[in-house]
Amino acid sequence: MAQQRTRTHSGGLPRLAAGELKVAPSVLAADFGNLAGEVAKVEGVTDWLHLDVMDGHFVPNITIGPPVVASLRPHTGMFFDCHLMMTNPGDFLEAFSSAGADSCSVHVEVGDTEVLCAEMRRLGLGVGLVVNPETPYEAAEPYLGLVDLLLIMTVHPGFGNQSFMPEAVTKLTKARDQAERENLRVTLQVDGGIDEQTAPVAASLGARCFVAGSAVFHSPDPTDSVRRIHAAASEAVSVSR
Ligand code: DX5
Ligand code: ZN
Repeated sequence: MAQQRTRTHSGGLPRLAAGELKVAPSVLAADFGNLAGEVAKVEGVTDWLHLDVMDGHFVPNITIGPPVVASLRPHTGMFFDCHLMMTNPGDFLEAFSSAGADSCSVHVEVGDTEVLCAEMRRLGLGVGLVVNPETPYEAAEPYLGLVDLLLIMTVHPGFGNQSFMPEAVTKLTKARDQAERENLRVTLQVDGGIDEQTAPVAASLGARCFVAGSAVFHSPDPTDSVRRIHAAASEAVSVSR
């Protein structure tokens, strides 16, 4: 019988201290038949978990929804960072919140961004906005002050184990510049093809949260992989200072 555990994070997104980095393993690359066991492999080494929600419309794949988030919730106190690849996330924010999500990120491409951000805020969720590789930074720019987290996709969303798109990270520079200019505290996250080689590239441009699926869960030692990605990114941050 699993130990009963619940969210240990208070509402919203925890602020990262200066120089603090997070690796968020993506369970998309984990064994869905043994999710709780897979999560246990990484919970000693990081406190964020990335949950990819795909609806078969916004992306050509289907994964998990609120029932799976709720089933996993009692097994871990990790911060549940839910990436909603959905055309209609607004219909499900309340369900994700009740299921135990700590933050939700919606795609700017689906529109209604202000309304969705306000609803996430009202629900006490961390507020995230996602930009696809082919979407210009300018699509997200008006909303940077509304969000806690900006996720710059470094692959086309929908599938794991794709190659990192280096051209996507130029958006990080624009986001970092805007955040500095407007004095905004927003965490920049990257997702897709992140590993020990690519995390430093994004880190040197301002990314502070690194989603990694295959590099963690397809590794024989997921704990060590998280440590290595974290160390490689930290090194790049200290060099770029
Ligand atoms: C892709 C998902 C990613 C995915 C990353 O649509 O948003 O979170 O799990 O997987 P890797 O790290 O294997 O590229
Ligand atoms: Zn994702």
